[in-house]
Amino acid sequence: MNWENPAAAQTASRAAAVGHRPGQPVVRAAGWREPPSPPGHFLIGNAPELKSDVLGFIVQAHRDYGDVIRLRFPFVRAYLAAHPDDIRHILQDNHDNYTKNNIDYRLLKGGLGDGLLTSDGPYWLRQRRLIQPMFRRERIAQFGVLMAQAARHLADDWEGHARRGEPFDVAAEMTRVTLAIVARALFSVEIAQDAAVISQSLTTMNESMAQAGFAALLPFLPTRTNRRIRAAKRALDRVIYRIIAQRRAHPGHCDDLLSLLLFARDPQTGKTLSDRQVRDEVATFLLAGHETTANALAWTWYLLGCNPDAEDRLHAELAEVLGGRAPCVADLPRLRYTAMVIDESMRLYPPAWAFSRSNLEDDEIGGYRIKRGSLIYISQYVTHRHPAFWEDPGRFDPERFTPERVAVRPKYAYFPFAGGPRACIGSQFALTEAALILATLAQRYRLRLAPGHRVEMQPLITLRPRHGVKVVAHPLR
Ligand code: HEM
Repeated sequence: MNWENPAAAQTASRAAAVGHRPGQPVVRAAGWREPPSPPGHFLIGNAPELKSDVLGFIVQAHRDYGDVIRLRFPFVRAYLAAHPDDIRHILQDNHDNYTKNNIDYRLLKGGLGDGLLTSDGPYWLRQRRLIQPMFRRERIAQFGVLMAQAARHLADDWEGHARRGEPFDVAAEMTRVTLAIVARALFSVEIAQDAAVISQSLTTMNESMAQAGFAALLPFLPTRTNRRIRAAKRALDRVIYRIIAQRRAHPGHCDDLLSLLLFARDPQTGKTLSDRQVRDEVATFLLAGHETTANALAWTWYLLGCNPDAEDRLHAELAEVLGGRAPCVADLPRLRYTAMVIDESMRLYPPAWAFSRSNLEDDEIGGYRIKRGSLIYISQYVTHRHPAFWEDPGRFDPERFTPERVAVRPKYAYFPFAGGPRACIGSQFALTEAALILATLAQRYRLRLAPGHRVEMQPLITLRPRHGVKVVAHPLR
């Protein structure tokens, strides 16, 4: 046993461990053990550590206790699974045994309702099949035109800041542009007027739900947090129901997601979705469709600002491939380093940093018995730093994502978009958008952190920079 690094030792001894290989049925061996667990406080378990520094705590617990850990939560049997084989088992090979019907998703439903992200079972499957065509390759290429255009406008907007040498928050700018893009692409609306209300409502829900804990599961309780969530939801609903009413009144010839949702008929019953069901999908896509991509880009600017060598390579690629003209979707296959920078940024700062599943039946994970109804956490933040798969994991190094190195790594060592049937439906949308925005802006500006500004992680439902990322833009031409 490697006592220095139990996570690596467990990985090395996996072949010898009791247990499954991907795709094989679970064999119940005698003497299954409980996974090790960091010590917890009386009654409240690990709650104080998870509240004060969740990221530091789970990374350290993985280093100290290995690939499957029991987390001590009040009232719930919770685990963290960090090995790529186990993540593959949960998300892909044995996904039928795992559900989103648990406290985490019930909490999310408080704001998002029953949209594609939070629903489960046959309703989820029907909605996924309905919506999937919106994210085909040809559609993404069409969206790419408006993504590139929005990025060019943003680059023009920054000229004033750059001329005056004035610091600005690039995280807020990434939120503004990604929200405008998703609203235009999926709902054909100009969101500028409502952007502040939408952003504020979604931020409030994101913060409050991440902090509310059990109180948010009882939304009728008159706590301050519950009142904030309700007010944010009301403000968001006003905007969304107005967008729905306008489209019902003037359907036009839009073939966007909104029309798809409003006018699609169930093949069996012939019924359309109710306004409430449409509202839940619109809220889901407004949130999931911009917040994560905005965070990925904000962290990318931060990392480039701290790593001038990588930034120089990026600029060299942009100059060579584009020769000074603005990028479009057709350029993306040749912007390899640009994509590698984004991949590496999402390794270190995964916008979706953890999520959970619950098992319907007993299962075996990494040689341990996991009783049905447990809460199993999977964390990109932890696995993307797994020392058995990432050398010097804290270092920013886009070279990790050359095709040769990706080919020899297990698939679930890197999974910013999750995987299996519940993988992110918008992954290609996000990667196209991020590459076009990064290429367009990096071609014109070098961003440097504003003096004295401290960048800090804020792990809510998504991983945000707590005080934004304040930068000064220096024009390149
Ligand atoms: C860098 C950007 C993004 C990241 C890192 C990301 C990550 C993820 C992850 C990890 C999941 C699985 C969550 C879970 O199991 O609870 C997910 C699901 C989802 N994402 Fe994304 N996402 C991104 C961008 C987008 C975009 C641009 C859209 C829409 C335009 C989108 C829409 C969704 C939806 C609707 C789901 C639920 C899918 C289902 O369960 O069928 N995401 N995303």
